[in-house]
Amino acid sequence: MAMSEPLGDWLQLRESADWEARSSQLVQQVVNAIAPEGSIHVLDLATGTGSNVRYLAVRLPGCQRWLVVDHSPDLLALVTERTAAWARARGYRCDSYATGLRVRHDSLDCEVETRQRDLCDLDDAGLFAGRHLVTASALLDLVSELWLRSLAAHCREVGAAVLFALSYNGESSCSPAEPEDELVRELLNRHQHTDKGLGGLAAGPDAVACAERCFIAVGYQVHIQPTDWNIGPAHADMQRYLVRDWARAAGELAPELVPHITSWRDRRLAHIDAGRSRISVRHFDLAGWPARP
Ligand SMILES: C[S@@+](CC[C@H](N)C(=O)[O-])C[C@H]1O[C@@H](n2cnc3c(N)ncnc32)[C@H](O)[C@@H]1O
Repeated sequence: MAMSEPLGDWLQLRESADWEARSSQLVQQVVNAIAPEGSIHVLDLATGTGSNVRYLAVRLPGCQRWLVVDHSPDLLALVTERTAAWARARGYRCDSYATGLRVRHDSLDCEVETRQRDLCDLDDAGLFAGRHLVTASALLDLVSELWLRSLAAHCREVGAAVLFALSYNGESSCSPAEPEDELVRELLNRHQHTDKGLGGLAAGPDAVACAERCFIAVGYQVHIQPTDWNIGPAHADMQRYLVRDWARAAGELAPELVPHITSWRDRRLAHIDAGRSRISVRHFDLAGWPARP
């Protein structure tokens, strides 16, 4: 999605909907494909506040060594804060360090190193060397086809499995319907193809199909599952954020339509305030690993 408010707030708003939508079946398939003998070494690209770490930590084999990368120091600071709060709420032990944290509980021993880096290019052996799993969540729709080709080549070089969650596929629906819903969706999808600073024009809604091609081209077996958000009245703030953000992105592409888009936004916000709004946003999760001969 295009962003108009502090990203950390948005990532917090969406975290529970993300976890509900994600494919646990693909995670299990990845775990079966990796089966490391010692610790599992994981790279989380564009980690934000670490939602992907918190989701996967309790689903991957117990001994985990994570490198989590983002260009935002503010978001990386929240990885430690939010993961420590998550761990405490579950009764896990959590130790924080200048460069990350360690969470322990029964067989779980999860070390997380945070690293600030612009991921506009991936040519850094230190990111990929020794990784069993390269993962990201809510990232692929922001990156270019060139970037995806480079990602596939780097993953293939180290033989890593991959898991990319929650890539927007261009489809959404709002209820009750408003006449401009389709117009705003089309403008948003065009906005999704603009350059997001990750290798050129973004693949946007085509990202998963493009990633599938790139990973198959380097010899991966690829699996895809739908992982949609179905956001009801209980997630009113998340709906408000989406509607405002879509209106902003649509208005950027069609300034002459701003009065119509603003009117659409205000009607949608009124539906949310009245507790009758539902929004579905369609995503795909993609998992892959080097195909066995
Ligand atoms: C939609 S958020 C997803 C965050 C997180 N993976 C999650 O699921 O909550 C996209 C993330 O990409 C990061 N990002 C965007 N452009 C980047 C770049 N050029 N280099 C590194 N990180 C970038 C943002 O800071 C943000 O954390």
